[in-house]
Amino acid sequence: MTSIPNFRSLTQLVDKTVVIIGGSSGIGYEVARASLEHGAKVIIASSHAEKVDTAVKNLSALHESFKGRISGSTCNVKVDREIEKFWDSVGQFDHLVYTAIDSVPQFFSETDNGRRAHFDIIFWGALISANYTMQKGYINAGGSITMTMSSSFKKPHKGWEIAASITGAVDGLTRGLAVQLAPIRVNTVSPGYVDTNMWHAMDPTAKVALEDGISKTALVQHVAKPEEIADAYLFCMKCTNLTGVTINVEGGRLLAQPLVDHWLEAKPL
Ligand SMILES: NC(=O)c1ccc[n+]([C@@H]2O[C@H](COP(=O)([O-])OP(=O)(O)OC[C@H]3O[C@@H](n4cnc5c(N)ncnc54)[C@H](OP(=O)(O)O)[C@@H]3O)[C@@H](O)[C@H]2O)c1
Repeated sequence: MTSIPNFRSLTQLVDKTVVIIGGSSGIGYEVARASLEHGAKVIIASSHAEKVDTAVKNLSALHESFKGRISGSTCNVKVDREIEKFWDSVGQFDHLVYTAIDSVPQFFSETDNGRRAHFDIIFWGALISANYTMQKGYINAGGSITMTMSSSFKKPHKGWEIAASITGAVDGLTRGLAVQLAPIRVNTVSPGYVDTNMWHAMDPTAKVALEDGISKTALVQHVAKPEEIADAYLFCMKCTNLTGVTINVEGGRLLAQPLVDHWLEAKPL
C-alpha cells in the first residue's frame, strides 16, 4: 500500500475545530465524518438530544482515531438565545458548517407558522450564528463559514417558491457576509436532490419514482449520496482563496434538458 507523507492538502484541517450545526444527520453528518478523517476536532449540534448522542456514538465507532475528537450538543436554531448559549459553550473554533433543516419547505400546504419557521432555521440561524461568533471573537484567524442552500433557487419545481426564496436569501447572504466578515471566508454549498432524512415524510412510492427520474435525467446518472456533497464543504474549509461563492453540487441538474436533447437527437440540426 502507498504510504502518504504529511502533504499540505491532507493535513490542513488537523487539530482545527469544525462545528457543524445540523451535524446529527444527512449531509452534516457526512461533513463530520470527512472532517474527522482529515484530523479535525468536530462538534456537532442539532435540536434533538437523542439524535446528537446517537450520531456522536456512531461517529466515534467508525475509527479508533476519531475517539476523543468528536462531541455534540443540543441547539435549537429557532431560538436566538439558544444559538448564543451554544456558541458561548463552544468558544474558540476554526470552521462553522451550517446544514440545519427540519422538513422540505412547502408553502401552500403549510400553516403561517410553518412557512415562517423555514426562514428561521435555514436563514436566520445561520446569520445569527455568524454575527454572534464574530462579535464575540470566537472564529480563529484563517477560519471560515460554509452555509447551505439548494438548486431550487435556480430551478424551482412547481410549489417550491418558498424553497427558492429562502435559498436565494442565503445566496445573497453568502456575498454580504463575505464582505462584512473578511478576512474570515464565507461560502455556500448548493446541492440538488440528496438521499437523506429530509425526505423521510415522502410517500415511499413517490420517492422511488422521483429517484428513478433523477437517475435518468441527472448528467451524473445517479442519485447523490450525502458523502458526495460533504466533499464540497471540505473544499470550502480548505481552500484559503475561496470566499463569497456558492458552489453548485447538483449532478448536472441545472444543465439537464432531456426533452430538448431527445428532440435534437431525433432531428439533428
Ligand atoms: N437532501 C436534499 O435533497 C437537499 C437538497 C438540497 C439542499 N439540501 C440542504 O442540505 C442541508 C442539509 O439537509 P439534509 O438533507 O442533510 O437534511 P437532514 O438529514 O434532515 O439533516 C438536517 C439536520 O438539521 C437538524 N435540525 C433540524 N431542525 C433543527 C433546529 N431547529 N435546530 C438545529 N438543528 C436542526 C436535524 O437534527 P434535529 O432533528 O436533531 O434538530 C439534522 O441534524 C439543508 O440546508 C437542506 O436544505 C438538502
